[in-house]
Amino acid sequence: QEATPQWRPVYHFTAPKNWLNDPNGLIYIDGVYHLYYQHNPFENKWGHMSWGHATSKDLINWKHLPVAIPEIEKKDTTTWIFSGSAVLDEHNSSGFGKNGKAPIVAIYTADQPKQQKESQFIAFSNDGGLTYTNYSGNPVVDIQKKDFRDPSVIWLEDQHKWLMTVAVPAEHKVQFYSSENLKNWEMLSEFGNQGDTRKIWECPSLTPLYVDGDPAKKKWLLMVSSGNQDAATGMQYFTGDFDGKTFTNDNKPESQLFVDYGKTFYAAIPYNHLPDNRQMMIGWLMPFETPTSPWRGQMSIPRDLQLKTTASGIRLFQQPSAAISTYLHKLPAAKKLTLKAQTINSKALELSSSKGFNTNTNWVDAEFTIGTATDFGFKIAEQVVVGYNVQRNELYIRDGKDVQHVGIPPANNKIRLQVLVDKSSVEVFVNDGEKVLTTLIFPDKAATGLAVFAENGDVQLNTLKAWDLSK
Ligand code: FRU
Repeated sequence: QEATPQWRPVYHFTAPKNWLNDPNGLIYIDGVYHLYYQHNPFENKWGHMSWGHATSKDLINWKHLPVAIPEIEKKDTTTWIFSGSAVLDEHNSSGFGKNGKAPIVAIYTADQPKQQKESQFIAFSNDGGLTYTNYSGNPVVDIQKKDFRDPSVIWLEDQHKWLMTVAVPAEHKVQFYSSENLKNWEMLSEFGNQGDTRKIWECPSLTPLYVDGDPAKKKWLLMVSSGNQDAATGMQYFTGDFDGKTFTNDNKPESQLFVDYGKTFYAAIPYNHLPDNRQMMIGWLMPFETPTSPWRGQMSIPRDLQLKTTASGIRLFQQPSAAISTYLHKLPAAKKLTLKAQTINSKALELSSSKGFNTNTNWVDAEFTIGTATDFGFKIAEQVVVGYNVQRNELYIRDGKDVQHVGIPPANNKIRLQVLVDKSSVEVFVNDGEKVLTTLIFPDKAATGLAVFAENGDVQLNTLKAWDLSK
């Protein structure tokens, strides 16, 4: 296939070449963000699953490193390294530490296609996460199933124990296990058959968060990816309590809450070991038939997670990671644009007439007050509309015949849109990330540009800041 540099994202992560899917083993150590990922090191399609590896200090510029955990080929067994997590074993509970240095331990699913078997393996690193040695006692969790995967492990400080959340995909459930040493695991409980059960469940995670930032109001966020084939909404979440053994859903079993309302956001997992109770995740923007080469698959922007009290209950809010704002602020003046408050009417306002804003690599943060216009928002790369419809209280992305949308009422008659355009992806965060819609776009080579528009009336643009992230 012909190379497609015009669709290579600039500030979203891609593998230098070949296939990428889920983020794996996200962990922050000594000022460095590690990103492992499902990778085929040999071809631009799914297969030979291994953990690719990259690191970053600012979450924008990534250093590509050699494959950290390659597939294992043995006489009668091929083991693919499926999704999982990584922890820093600070107390050396596993005994894998060396010379007084804490090991990094990866907990992943060993997928053995010939045996039709999935079980959980561990591997340890004594060189800061560059290379891993598989534990000789693997598997560490095995329930004799074909589908049993994606362990997410966190440290429970109050119990001084490790907690694993892992999916039994076909049964629409997750299981919780605990361990003192990462090698011996005891099953605690199961949670499932609630929320969206139309598709298989994969890549679960359980994360503690303070509701509205208040340490007295701790809740647990359980995220699950449910269905990676033409799912309208790929990831769902539950909020609830976790007593160290059992997760209790805050909401009715039939209620459904989604993480992102676009077609592409999937397999997101939170970072381990972030300071100050911060919680941040990265997701995979599923490619479907992505026509890109010599790489395929990209990651979302890292997203900060918050639980907030709303009129409908406790809800997940997402924001592009605050850690990235340092990077945005440091950009030279020529790459920043600030507009004064003004009225937008049927004459669209072309941002691309300002230098640099015709690169399809822009980040826009704008606030509107609703006026007489029925629709307003942004036109991107000539063919994509990110719009808000006032009658339907709905944010949509229209790309040719394809329309994706999510309902969200204005807040005090205002709509804030954070729109991240990066060559072949668009991520839209509405009203501080109360709702998020992400999609992939494949504009023609010559199609660039960014404009603010209003239809059938006018809208008040209160503030607009934009950044050009092209390099
Ligand atoms: C999700 C997933 C995971 C699995 C991995 C294999 O996209 O199917 O369940 O571990 O991808 O690449």
